Amino acid sequence: MIEKSYYIETYGCQMNEHDSEKMSAMLGDMGLKRVESAELADVVVINTCAIRAKAEHKVYSALGTLRIIKSEKPELVTIVSGCVAQQEKEKLFKRAGHVDIVLGTHHIAELPAALQDVWRDRKRRTLTEWSSDVESLHTPAPVKNSSSVSSFLNIMQGCSNFCAYCVVPYARGPEQSRSMEEVLAEAQRLTAHGVKDITLLGQNVNAFGKDLATGKTFADLLEELNKITGLERLRFTTSHPRDFNEGLASAMARLSRVCEHIHLPLQSGSDSVLKRMRRGYTIGDYLKNIEVLRNKIPHVAITSDIIVGFPGESDTDFAETMKVLATIRFDQIFSFKYSPRPQTAALKLEGHLPEDIKRARLADVHKLQEAITRDYHSAAVGTVQEVLIEKTRNSCGQATGRTRTNKIVNINSSREFQPGSLVGVKIIRGLRHSLIGEI
Ligand code: 5AD
Ligand code: SF4
Repeated sequence: MIEKSYYIETYGCQMNEHDSEKMSAMLGDMGLKRVESAELADVVVINTCAIRAKAEHKVYSALGTLRIIKSEKPELVTIVSGCVAQQEKEKLFKRAGHVDIVLGTHHIAELPAALQDVWRDRKRRTLTEWSSDVESLHTPAPVKNSSSVSSFLNIMQGCSNFCAYCVVPYARGPEQSRSMEEVLAEAQRLTAHGVKDITLLGQNVNAFGKDLATGKTFADLLEELNKITGLERLRFTTSHPRDFNEGLASAMARLSRVCEHIHLPLQSGSDSVLKRMRRGYTIGDYLKNIEVLRNKIPHVAITSDIIVGFPGESDTDFAETMKVLATIRFDQIFSFKYSPRPQTAALKLEGHLPEDIKRARLADVHKLQEAITRDYHSAAVGTVQEVLIEKTRNSCGQATGRTRTNKIVNINSSREFQPGSLVGVKIIRGLRHSLIGEI
């Protein structure tokens, strides 16, 4: 029998990356070999992102390339998964008639069956119904190979917040937590395979358990996971400021394996914008969270997301965002121009802003944050950091790893470091996106 092969292209967030890892494992279990280009493959999966219009454009451009490949190789099976698939459903066939399977966000686990069906009858299909118990949430995180140091672990699926700008609740459905027992068993399995660093994944991880009504909170989950021997580091993303509380900060401070880093998206520094975004907190609430974190956890790294140019954002609103950024001094932020998304409430708001205003505001935010991040990196020079080695050599011949605060460190050393080992590294230089260290 001729061995079939697959190619997978992933757009968007860590959730998508992790779904792609799961789909790769499923295709591997079916006997398909992974290849690194669509031209060489019998099956192509495009795992899509819909968070901003730009992400969606990239998907359609990838589909355009695939159309040409498929015209020369009609037996190629084309699968579109992820958030664009979920939103577009069968409408996707209109824009991309060469697609065979539209695989919605609740149907990742059905990929093997759908592929077998297409091979059998050559008919295209759409799997986009919502499910109240998403099967792929229970699909184990694949252990990539024996030297895998880090792994994602999915603890929830979806989001029920309906922030006014955000497509996620429409593309991923309502919040669903996995059971605590299942998460613990999964973490134990991963550590038994040598994983040292687990990142818990969910759109809103600190709301974990709210939908299960077991009385167990996210902090309780961290407490249990912290007992696992062999696990060195526990991380999580993303947290919502509204579901943040002192109990979580105390757990982070107390539990030795939980890293000193939190990603806590602020979105805007103006109370009136936050209100129209339907974020459910004020700047005062947010600043209190920061104070609690910094009081309880010395050297905690705090990162955030910012949207500029939300409908109706005035010069004064934007000045408030700049002021709050300068006050809080995040370690790092991801900043975006507001992008109107289908179905979302913000579409109907007054005061949509022109592109040039959004662009100028984004540039101001970038400039300010770059200086702040550079200051943090310079301040790290001379300190000794615990680095978990991820790669023995990068393209410059340096070993690379991360600090507990999630900063990338490239190490100048001729020594061979084993992935997964913990090394004390003296920081000798701070760059824009990383640190340089020596032993
Ligand atoms: N426009 C711009 N940025 C957005 N985000 C989510 N939706 C939009 C949108 N419509 C950003 C938010 C979120 C991050 C993942 O993406 O900052 O935290
Ligand atoms: Fe989107 Fe808000 Fe849910 Fe985050 S919390 S995924 S921004 S709706």
